[in-house]
Amino acid sequence: EDGADFIVAANRLPVDLERLPDGSQRWKHSPGGLVSALEPFLRSHSGAWVGWPGVPDVDVEEFTEDGLRLHPVSLTADEVRDYYEGFSNATLWPLYHDVVASPVFDRGWWDSYVKVNHRFAEACAKVAAQGATVWIQDYQLQLAPAILRELRPDLRIGFFLHIPFPPTELFMQLPWRAEIVRGLLGADLIGFHRPGGAQNFLWLARRLLGLEPTRGAVGVRTRPGVIQLGDRAVRVGAFPISIDSAGLDALSRKRETVARTQQIRADLGNPKKVILGVDRLDYTKGIDVRLYALQELLAEGRVDPTEVAMVQLATPSRERVEHYQRMRGDIEQVVSRINGEFGRVGRPIVHYLHQSIGRAELSAFFSAADVMLVTPLRDGMNLVCKEYVACRHDLGGALVLSEFAGAAAELTSAFLVNPHDLDGVKNAMHAALTIDPAEGRRRMRALRRQVLTHDVDRWARSFLDALDPEHAH
Ligand code: UDP
Ligand code: G6P
Repeated sequence: EDGADFIVAANRLPVDLERLPDGSQRWKHSPGGLVSALEPFLRSHSGAWVGWPGVPDVDVEEFTEDGLRLHPVSLTADEVRDYYEGFSNATLWPLYHDVVASPVFDRGWWDSYVKVNHRFAEACAKVAAQGATVWIQDYQLQLAPAILRELRPDLRIGFFLHIPFPPTELFMQLPWRAEIVRGLLGADLIGFHRPGGAQNFLWLARRLLGLEPTRGAVGVRTRPGVIQLGDRAVRVGAFPISIDSAGLDALSRKRETVARTQQIRADLGNPKKVILGVDRLDYTKGIDVRLYALQELLAEGRVDPTEVAMVQLATPSRERVEHYQRMRGDIEQVVSRINGEFGRVGRPIVHYLHQSIGRAELSAFFSAADVMLVTPLRDGMNLVCKEYVACRHDLGGALVLSEFAGAAAELTSAFLVNPHDLDGVKNAMHAALTIDPAEGRRRMRALRRQVLTHDVDRWARSFLDALDPEHAH
């Protein structure tokens, strides 16, 4: 087949291979915000996607799904353990999320990370047409830009980090800090969600590569937003990601969605107030925080147990990583305490689902929720809160949002909370539950103005225009 002119490379393909007990297999939608954001964009702009199919030892040739060219990269079971669960999700993920869990620094994991990054770069080099644009995504592939540039100097290479870029004191803990910075500098444009992330990166590039004058580092000059590496300029900037706002708005207006919304409220016993949380089951998401807050509000009598139902949807994620197992245990314990203490037969307070649900069903849940709780301790952007807003064309509902989600910079009309301040979270939840409807509509209108005018298409175009100013995207 011909080489592709536009390629997205991410650890995951937009679909995961699922192996069923009867030995058959099928493809299903992959979890997480990266796929939610990029998939609609790539479907409307022809391109290829290079990524892992989500299970070890899959040997699948490139195939086309719904017009999208998918190019699978295979990982062995050891690589899944060392590169994916280990270095990506037990070293980088906690380190970049403010060390809310302790990162583990393991040299064997690092070796695997290097090896797999080579494999992804080689796959991109193979798929890309002469002069193509390759857009590499996220923390799992930070070495790939420089490796790919060595292999294919003709390509235009972009990199985007979907999670926070940490404060420099934290990043400096990483034994392989200079290698990571050098890996990223292989790109022509490096994008972060927030200007602070871009600033942190610029500082590190100056500091680390100034300290270690090795190959490529000599003569590094850093100005705001640009690092001059010999005759090559690497640009660094902030590009806040978003969602397919119009698509979700339309989905939430459909007759089927409206009917399903009413059904959900009825299934919950038509409580006066429905509270909702939707997250991957991840310790960064502060699911436990909002449950503790609810528990105290109930215990203090500020919330009447006969008037509320909470749905917490916690999608299974990274289940073999220890911190995830521990967080799951904690969450499930608080859920059963709340239900044990304040529920009645047939009327639990918290309806907890450890499952993944599709877009249409999710939009009905968003429409059914009077109060949406998004309380991460740290989150690069958080798309769930934007999706909630996009679904509220009725101007109903109230959003409680952590200040430590990237989205807080845009969604300033939410009830913003510090998730470490439990009293503050409780007060915000109480205010959201008792909000005057006119005030609620005023806030939601302001939130929608932001989300509907800043969608994922605008994000992708602004990044790609900066990467390749001669072509309008
Ligand atoms: N999501 C989903 N099904 C679920 C739960 C979540 O499709 O059962 C989607 C959700 O709609 C959102 C994404 O998963 O698009 C989560 O993205 P976010 O940026 O909020 O968090 P991440 O998981 O990337 O950390
Ligand atoms: C976040 C990360 C993505 C990742 C997703 C799901 O959104 O930024 O890179 O794909 O979570 O996590 P998983 O480990 O299942 O791919």
